[in-house]
Amino acid sequence: MARQADFIAPSILSADFARLGQEVEQVLASGADIVHFDVMDNHYVPNLTIGPLVCEALRKYGITAPIDVHLMVKPVDRIIPDFAAAGASYITFHPEASEHVDRTLQLIRAEGCKAGLVFNPATPLTILEYVLDKVDLILLMSVNPGFGGQHFIPGALDKLRQVRSLIDAAGYNIRLEIDGGVKADNIGAIKAAGADTFVAGSGIFGRPGTDDPNRYDSILAQFRAELAKARL
Ligand code: DX5
Ligand code: ZN
Repeated sequence: MARQADFIAPSILSADFARLGQEVEQVLASGADIVHFDVMDNHYVPNLTIGPLVCEALRKYGITAPIDVHLMVKPVDRIIPDFAAAGASYITFHPEASEHVDRTLQLIRAEGCKAGLVFNPATPLTILEYVLDKVDLILLMSVNPGFGGQHFIPGALDKLRQVRSLIDAAGYNIRLEIDGGVKADNIGAIKAAGADTFVAGSGIFGRPGTDDPNRYDSILAQFRAELAKARL
């Protein structure tokens, strides 16, 4: 099966929350494909962020692009219908945070969303063997979850190659996403290792604030140029 088109997924964790609607609108206008929405609960990860109300607010503001909800919460099942109702497109969760991974994946699809599993740097991939037919997206963490602005863990590249082989061998239409420390200088190597969906928070938003509505054009163009050069 042919590789899916590259998706650039800005993580709003590093955006200016006081003017979130505009930030998301502008980064999409600059060429981003989907919105990465990091949900943290100060329990599964040691940080606290945003929930379904903010997702709904982005939809009400007029954001129509897919919203990729990355749940770093435990437990996960209770909150899934709320995110589906709030307009989530993808919902991903960490297998460590669900007592019944298969059931949670089914729940996400039953709520009308695309379902995904997230693997931390030290989480083995074995579980995938049993649920590959129930995932639309596999997200590999290239940092430990909880904070933006960390360095890319190079071991994630080998893991990407492993998962890419699994997906290709199975012939499923599954996206392979990477999250953490993605910048213009490593995105090409990350694509070459097998990713087709690229989350970047500080690499996109983490620059000095300006009122220029086109301020994300150049970084998105740089990402695209590096992706175009990558050898598969
Ligand atoms: C970390 C989050 C990431 C984070 C990435 O737990 O899942 O999505 O925003 O930030 P950067 O791109 O700065 O590493
Ligand atoms: Zn994330």
